[in-house]
Amino acid sequence: MVFSHELLHWYEANGRILPWRETKDPYIIWLSEIILQQTKVVQGLPYFHQFIKTFPTMESLAEASEEEVLKLWQGLGYYSRARNLHKTAKYIQSEYHGIFPDTYSLISKLPGIGDYTACAILSFAFGKVYPVLDGNVGRVSTRFSGIFDPIENQTTKNKIKSILQLWIDKDKPALFNQAIMDFGALVCTPGKAICLSSSLYCPFSNWCYAYKHDMVENLPVKKQSKAVKNRYLHYYMLSNKEGLLLHKRLLNDIWKGLYDFPFCETLETNIPMEKGKLSSVAENIGSVSFLKQYTHLLSHQRLHVFFYQKELTEAQIQLWSKEYIFVPWKQIKNFAVPKVFEQFFQDFKII
Ligand code: ADE
Repeated sequence: MVFSHELLHWYEANGRILPWRETKDPYIIWLSEIILQQTKVVQGLPYFHQFIKTFPTMESLAEASEEEVLKLWQGLGYYSRARNLHKTAKYIQSEYHGIFPDTYSLISKLPGIGDYTACAILSFAFGKVYPVLDGNVGRVSTRFSGIFDPIENQTTKNKIKSILQLWIDKDKPALFNQAIMDFGALVCTPGKAICLSSSLYCPFSNWCYAYKHDMVENLPVKKQSKAVKNRYLHYYMLSNKEGLLLHKRLLNDIWKGLYDFPFCETLETNIPMEKGKLSSVAENIGSVSFLKQYTHLLSHQRLHVFFYQKELTEAQIQLWSKEYIFVPWKQIKNFAVPKVFEQFFQDFKII
């Protein structure tokens, strides 16, 4: 059995047709891979089309403002990916005259590009023999070969990479990489997998360690994930008939560069009353009306987000507009906000 022959045969009949597979342009391939990191294909597709339409070239992306890029990214989460995307475009434009580098050492130094993305670009755009190792490929490899070491460990990744070096089709590295990712996404799926479905058959069941030993659901082995931390965030929509106050987040955290409201955080769910826990604005606004609570799950945090509202006087707006921006209602849609804000704005028909 030659692994790549079986895989490419399966891919010919079952592979997905996806727009970034129709090109060898490294700009488009890089863009698609950054969008698809931690995003499913169906969710990523509309963003991919919108980005290509708005920024058809490296130059156009490099010349955009960070605000424009964040706005287009809104809803995808992991906003550092968007900031790194923009940083890398500017870097390639200035250092390499807009031409994407084509070696592992140069590509892997670019902001936001790790081993997986570097190998994806090198194989898909430049036809080089670099196997990719993402979650799908890791699952296929550990099941087929019976690898029980935790998948997150670097030594396990090295072991898998050396197996992939043996499997990869040296004449068709791009096709091989696309095929093994699709096989992991469509057949060798997390949990039960569909080893014996008549429509999407697995060509490897006679040779697969996990299938033969009834261990498919046990692989790959994962380390215990970190406990999820609960956080309680209280946001104040301070507004009048014309508009409301927004605040640009400058702290180096997941929402850096996005806009939100004056806010405070408490250790528990209680509505913040005690002085000292509140930000300067919240301390001075007096009584507020509670509007709605949302729960928003991030990778290691569960955010309990409470929204309140308060009608402001002209004097209060004047006072706080040094720290905050007063935005007319009609212009709010132009500001990049966290996903939970987008939901809040929709629920209250603000955008
Ligand atoms: N997920 C990440 N990269 C992908 C690609 N090139 N094709 C399909 N799914 C992907």
